[in-house]
Amino acid sequence: LNDAEKNPTLVPHRGFNLISGTHDPDDVDQIYNLEIRDSDVFVVTYPKSGTIWMQQILLLLEAKGDVSAINHLNNHSNGDLIPWIELNGNRQAFITAPSPRLRVTHLQHQFLPPALSQKKGKVIYVARNPKDVLVSYFHFHKLANMLETPKDFDDFFEKFMRGDVFGCSWFEHIKTWYSHKDDMNMLFITYEEMIQDLHSAVEKISSFLGKELTDEQLASVVKHSTFNNMRKIPQASYEKVPDDLLSHQNGRFMRKGIIGDWRNHFTQAQNERFDQVFLREMEDFPLTFTWDM
Ligand code: A3P
Repeated sequence: LNDAEKNPTLVPHRGFNLISGTHDPDDVDQIYNLEIRDSDVFVVTYPKSGTIWMQQILLLLEAKGDVSAINHLNNHSNGDLIPWIELNGNRQAFITAPSPRLRVTHLQHQFLPPALSQKKGKVIYVARNPKDVLVSYFHFHKLANMLETPKDFDDFFEKFMRGDVFGCSWFEHIKTWYSHKDDMNMLFITYEEMIQDLHSAVEKISSFLGKELTDEQLASVVKHSTFNNMRKIPQASYEKVPDDLLSHQNGRFMRKGIIGDWRNHFTQAQNERFDQVFLREMEDFPLTFTWDM
């Protein structure tokens, strides 16, 4: 048994790890057969890359910057601003939902409907530098009750490097999705560019989606998507997610929201090993990452 198979919170399935109780493998397999509309938008991320942040931006773009559009969302359910396609029970609702159907997913490319690769619908891939992803994911494992609590940072570091986590290997995730960039209507955007210039990022997303917002409306989307303002909105900050899902006493979902926190966690030896693996895995990858502010 490898580590993922020994971990009771993970369900290895077709080369990917799902979360036990959260995802049903048979149901996940049915996602492939969903019919896609031109107006569908899928946000795709490896965990901890800014998924909820992108949810907030899309929701606000849809509402032309009107933050009260979030008010009707139920604080006491799992609080998702935009539904996960892979979450138990969400697939059926997708079939009959009115357009535009906005969805998020952490799944690998192989699970999504092939129509996306025939330029039907749109995909926004949000990438984040993997050292910060690892750190954010470590803290999230302490918070999230559906995931195994790591013994310590070193233990989690090893699991992440082996891909024995939900989402599997960060390297495989980004490389596979990126290799389909040209056969999809895909916007590839990074967490770091969103941090460095949120206004430009929001404009880019808006124009990718073909939205026409006034300057004032765009400014409102930006204003309500900053880290500090999202922290004040319970639906966006996950503060109201029930305790059986998140152990709030162990930390905050909206934790730091910065570039380079890995420097406070990685030992020098871990950093050297990470760099070696990164160089090997990402040798042919055309983009560079921002590791520090
Ligand atoms: P940290 O743990 O590094 O703070 P996801 O939504 O994919 O799970 O990603 C969560 C990460 O995105 C967390 O990172 C969280 O703080 C960060 N995040 C969420 N909203 C953000 C925002 N408006 N600005 C910057 N970072 C944000």
